[in-house]
Amino acid sequence: MWAGRFAKELNSKVNDFNSSIGVDGVMFEEDVTGSIAHATMLAECGIIAKSDAQDIIAELNSILLDIKSGALEIDPNAEDIHMFIEGELTKRLPEAGKKLHTARSRNDQVAVDTRLYVRKKIGSLKSKLWNLISTIYELAEKNTDTVMPGYTHLQRAQPITFSHHLLAYSAMFMRDYDRLVDAEKRLNVSPLGSCALAGTTYPINRQMTAELLGFSGVSFNSIDGVSDRDFCVEIGASIALIMTHLSRFSEEIILWCSWEFKFIELDDAYATGSSIMPQKKNPDIAELVRGKTGRTYGNLITLLTMLKGIPLAYNKDMQEDKEAIFDSIDTAELCLEIFAPMLQTMTVNKENMAKAGEKGFINATDCADYLTKKGMPFRSAYKVSGSLVGYAIQQGKTLNELTLTEFKNFSDMFENDIYEAIDLSVCLNKRTSEGAPSKTAVEKQLEIVKAFLESNK
Ligand code: ARG
Repeated sequence: MWAGRFAKELNSKVNDFNSSIGVDGVMFEEDVTGSIAHATMLAECGIIAKSDAQDIIAELNSILLDIKSGALEIDPNAEDIHMFIEGELTKRLPEAGKKLHTARSRNDQVAVDTRLYVRKKIGSLKSKLWNLISTIYELAEKNTDTVMPGYTHLQRAQPITFSHHLLAYSAMFMRDYDRLVDAEKRLNVSPLGSCALAGTTYPINRQMTAELLGFSGVSFNSIDGVSDRDFCVEIGASIALIMTHLSRFSEEIILWCSWEFKFIELDDAYATGSSIMPQKKNPDIAELVRGKTGRTYGNLITLLTMLKGIPLAYNKDMQEDKEAIFDSIDTAELCLEIFAPMLQTMTVNKENMAKAGEKGFINATDCADYLTKKGMPFRSAYKVSGSLVGYAIQQGKTLNELTLTEFKNFSDMFENDIYEAIDLSVCLNKRTSEGAPSKTAVEKQLEIVKAFLESNK
């Protein structure tokens, strides 16, 4: 391709080292689409003949069809997908084909292809995320009465419902979704026409190619157009957060299906056995999601590090962007895809959740609140309730099992209505503050998620 300046063929090891086609080969469709837009614009602006543009476009379309059908194999020895497709075009269309690269450089070509490819993938990430949010919504809708302990420090803390707990994940994944939408806005500008770095002397029309490719505008500086990969960083960071959230959720699933918790049971189709221990049912999917999270963090660091030291404009370091961001995208897609059906098919063990709620003194705060409402300052009430818990533990009882005399030994403010005040479902449904676990508060949260799902359908 760069015949003229060079007298020798590239050393074959250097060729392999330099080549990125093993990674960027997946962008063949974007490369063709970008080139078609470019050829159309060149003809419209009178830079190449209309008949040449027509031939180029027809040949590019047939190359695309041939790659898709398998009739044309992507050559693993080509330097990258841009060289491969242009090489194939000039093979098929020797004269006109050579005109395609007028007023263009691989620098703006790769920038536009990568944006188009990542944009397409954001679309599929968004739809997979939407499905997950919708699956969680359905599960939450069914569990507004499923009492369980809420935890802090993995110690039973206060009563919540399974629905309330799940809705916390809805909130996280909704923010993740919005982050993708937001990053997509900044990604969606066309660098095409930046050429190598300094634009061109040809009378090109950048707005036209931007429009043809569905971009909302053009990058306003040609050096930035070919140097910017912060869109990869933003998507990479958004994905890292999606994975962080999936990983926390995975960790809980792993805990919940252990014999120690037994809050859920995974469907047989979504768990694995052990090669030696016949009793085992392992949550491999959740563990793998948790495990794969690390690679998306690694990819994010790769992208940031790749950018931090390179002078403007293009440097070959930037070729490393695609392996990192594509791997993050593939990882998140895979994990999101498998997570939703794993949730859909699991069985919720409501009884065990309720039992765990009864045993953990998770109504101790409510016991203190009872006294506070009767006039005792909260700090004193906190102390009385704490002493009661200590006493109950000694007696091997729950708070609800103590007699009124026992209560009165700690404070004579206790009356018979204490039993109602510390009843778990009462404790739960009195938590009506915005965002809290009472049924009415949870129903409002469900409404918010439902509206989100509707408006992003
Ligand atoms: N394969 C290259 C990449 O991914 C394409 C751009 C090459 N440009 C250049 N000036 N060598 O970055």
